[in-house]
Amino acid sequence: MEVAIRIILFCVVLCHGGTFAEKLCFPKNFLFGVSTSAFQIEGAWNYSDKGESIWDRYTHQHPERVFDHTNADVAADSFHHLREDIKLLKELGVQYYRFSIAWSRVLPTGFSNVVSTDGVKYYNTLIDELIAAGIKPLVTMYHYDLPQSLQDLGGWTNPAVADYFKDYARVLFNTFGDRVEGWITFNEPYTFCLSGYGGNDAPGMQSSGFETYLCGHNILRAHAMTYHLYHNEMDARGFITITLDMSWMEAATKDDEDAAERARQFIFGWFAHPILSKEGDYPPVMRQRIDELSRKQNFPRSRLPVFTPEEVKSLKGTVDIIGLNTYSAYLVSEGHSKVDKTPSFQNDMNVYLRQDPTWPRSNSSWLRDVPWGFRKILNWIKETYNNPPIVVTENGVSTVPGLKDVSRVSYIDGHLRALHAAIVEDKVDVRGYTYWSLIDNFEWMRGFSERFGLYEVDYASANKRRTPRLSAAYYSNVARTSCLPTPQAVTWLRNHLQ
Ligand code: BGC
Repeated sequence: MEVAIRIILFCVVLCHGGTFAEKLCFPKNFLFGVSTSAFQIEGAWNYSDKGESIWDRYTHQHPERVFDHTNADVAADSFHHLREDIKLLKELGVQYYRFSIAWSRVLPTGFSNVVSTDGVKYYNTLIDELIAAGIKPLVTMYHYDLPQSLQDLGGWTNPAVADYFKDYARVLFNTFGDRVEGWITFNEPYTFCLSGYGGNDAPGMQSSGFETYLCGHNILRAHAMTYHLYHNEMDARGFITITLDMSWMEAATKDDEDAAERARQFIFGWFAHPILSKEGDYPPVMRQRIDELSRKQNFPRSRLPVFTPEEVKSLKGTVDIIGLNTYSAYLVSEGHSKVDKTPSFQNDMNVYLRQDPTWPRSNSSWLRDVPWGFRKILNWIKETYNNPPIVVTENGVSTVPGLKDVSRVSYIDGHLRALHAAIVEDKVDVRGYTYWSLIDNFEWMRGFSERFGLYEVDYASANKRRTPRLSAAYYSNVARTSCLPTPQAVTWLRNHLQ
């Protein structure tokens, strides 16, 4: 059957299968959106005066490290297909669009001494067109792509970079703040501090257990400075937050409860505890373990930096709502407890992580479809941090290329049911859900091999043709009605469309 016909059929069944009373509907003000990030979709990496970012440099210098040896010089070329992408957003019927601004496109030198007219023009057009289409912009200020000029100064290990981030933030607030109501300072500091300074991502530093913590420390400082800048010095019209990420950490056995909670504190609490807990500062378990291991490794001081009392105070409460990216779940068991000679985040955290092979797989090695983990992480945040309002800024799944993405429909449907239960039954205060991603994009070290889009991008075509997958029809129906189709309708469709 032709894909277009399937999609129409899909819509008919989803829209009419089941009465309103049988359907699960989200609260009245709940919002649905989709997400992307600049480096992953824009292309135009050196258009006009755009500066080089660490991801430009890294993928150019090390094509062999990217799974399919590609780079994001062109990617989905959203820079030149902006209006087309807004059409897709309208077609989906989402209420907001989460995208990121490329620091080096707005400030080509990385510093606020030069503001790019073309860079500002691009984001002005994007924001204006979104608003004209009735779609709210939710802007991520930093999604992994530090200007290379600042990396040359040490990147996030240099405390001065926090000041340069604040300067950048000021430019963004002054330039776009009259129309943007939602700001996210950083996307996933856990992931980029760990993978960029002790893993395989840009900038490719191999200093886990050292630079990872310096990075986290300066990110937290930059976040607090920016929050206060927004609320105290700007004509703030909206809200500001940070997006933290974690897959659910489930204890493998009853005896592993401590290990599982330690993993949650090292991964999520690292950034959430200073911001959301009553006492502030790093989670006690991180402080205690890293101090102790540092001593045993013969360092004169802890590898985990120390906040001044003023910094602890200024970090507390610096979100208006908390952003959560979550995709999957892991089973956690207690680690070997040895003190490694070479420090590392993993040794400090001291757990083993694995996934249950019976959980449905995706096209990403780390991502299995575990909806109950989604409900659990939402409840854990509620219990641990005194019920803060939450916006799910990313959740999604990868497939191989192709339009019949039945596994994506199952994933989204399962996760939305779990989310609905968390909101309605468990009373977790979740205000919005953002699917990752609108279109296929450059999946960092996996290149173009993993597809997360509701719309497929044909990278071989001259105009980077976008085509809706079945999941686009599914998600559009949910975003427009705020209700989930009946399970029977979804099963019927799955069986007929496989
Ligand atoms: C990141 C995205 C990435 C997605 C899928 C998230 O951790 O924010 O940039 O594409 O996961 O891997």
